[in-house]
Amino acid sequence: MDQIRITGGQRLSGRIPISGSKNSGLALMAATLLTGEPVTLANLPALADIASMTALLRQHGVEIKARDGATSLNAEKIISTTAPYDIVRKMRASVLVLGPLLARFREATVSLPGGCAIGSRPVDLHIKGLQQLGAEIEVTGGYIRAKAPKGLKGANVVFPKVSVGATENLVMAATLAEGETVLDNVAREPEIADLVALLVALGARIKGAGTETLRIEGVPQLHGAKYSVMADRIETGTFAIAAAITGGSVSLDNTRLDLIDSLAERLVEAGAVVTKEENGFQVSAERSLVGIDVMTEPFPGFPTDLQAQFMALMTVARGASMLTETIFENRFMHVPELRRMGANINLHGSSAMVRGVKRLTGADVMASDLRASASLVLAGLVADGDTVVHRIYHLDRGYERLEEKLVGVGARIERSRD
Ligand code: UD1
Repeated sequence: MDQIRITGGQRLSGRIPISGSKNSGLALMAATLLTGEPVTLANLPALADIASMTALLRQHGVEIKARDGATSLNAEKIISTTAPYDIVRKMRASVLVLGPLLARFREATVSLPGGCAIGSRPVDLHIKGLQQLGAEIEVTGGYIRAKAPKGLKGANVVFPKVSVGATENLVMAATLAEGETVLDNVAREPEIADLVALLVALGARIKGAGTETLRIEGVPQLHGAKYSVMADRIETGTFAIAAAITGGSVSLDNTRLDLIDSLAERLVEAGAVVTKEENGFQVSAERSLVGIDVMTEPFPGFPTDLQAQFMALMTVARGASMLTETIFENRFMHVPELRRMGANINLHGSSAMVRGVKRLTGADVMASDLRASASLVLAGLVADGDTVVHRIYHLDRGYERLEEKLVGVGARIERSRD
């Protein structure tokens, strides 16, 4: 297994190119199951999760070819409508094939994703929503077994809780359902708008992207298209925090400031300077920042996927800050590891009280999940001496060429065998 060694204390300066969005890419790839014509996706990041989705789609029969920097996916000949446990257990987003398979082939069998380090993460909203579109669903033997012998039918689905994945599954399924579907209280994350834009390019009729209500007029079939995946807003935010935590000045290219407005506002409040640029934006910080409070919320609120990284920043801020997690029940796995580096953090239920310290010290730390790993790398960038982050396979699920990008702006970071 690989590990990453970071020698802290370098001010980062220069430019970092941002990759395509992992979370959007996964949903867009699943959406290609909705059509028998080829779909070409540009800007898919080279990440372990994208490789897992590729393996899953291939075993369904999708032909996938990478050429000229784009990936062509052709789901003309589907040989299986079952998503097996072996792949789903590695990546929860596999459940996104449920809606498209059910809509186009009238049946799908998808392994239930198991628990996960950050919380129990049920899929009840996906199942209930599809049942409202007329699917008959049984959960037996660890599998979701869904069928709709006469096809799905449009309906009004009101989500009791905002869910990114359930919104994605339902909007995909509704594109081929008979009649109109109205989805209320949907997630407004930019990845949903990206998925809707691809679906519209494939011939779907959808209104309301970016609002709380999506209206989908079902069509008999979809066709092929070419589409470019949006920038990864969590990678964007992670590097924005890297610039701030090191008192550096970094331009993030191929991305958009409006994807991370909530983070940018907090960075400015804490004392950093954020400047829009033609192809992205720049973050700089000249002095240590001040502690501020943050609560995670569905978009446009502060993303749970940046909570761990923001906590790393707050460990070295002046004063105290309170970080409250409202999306996942167990998303403080980075806290004991940050404490091993000298951070002063107290947990009270779903809130973490962080009192800024003058300096962190390098230590051996263990990565528990994707974003927690990123938080430890950020802490390592500012800690005295060397930090070794173990079990970094989590990072490879979500950050494309992380070390290379950080070395490019002056960090001292290298990967080696554990
Ligand atoms: C997606 C993102 C993940 C991000 C999360 C929240 C992908 C591949 N992953 O995950 O990086 O952290 O959004 O922004 O896009 N819930 C239920 N029942 C359900 C579904 C969800 O109770 O059927 C709960 C979850 O346990 C959680 C909350 O709803 O507490 C939000 O989860 P959801 O938005 O569904 O997250 P994911 O789509 O799994």
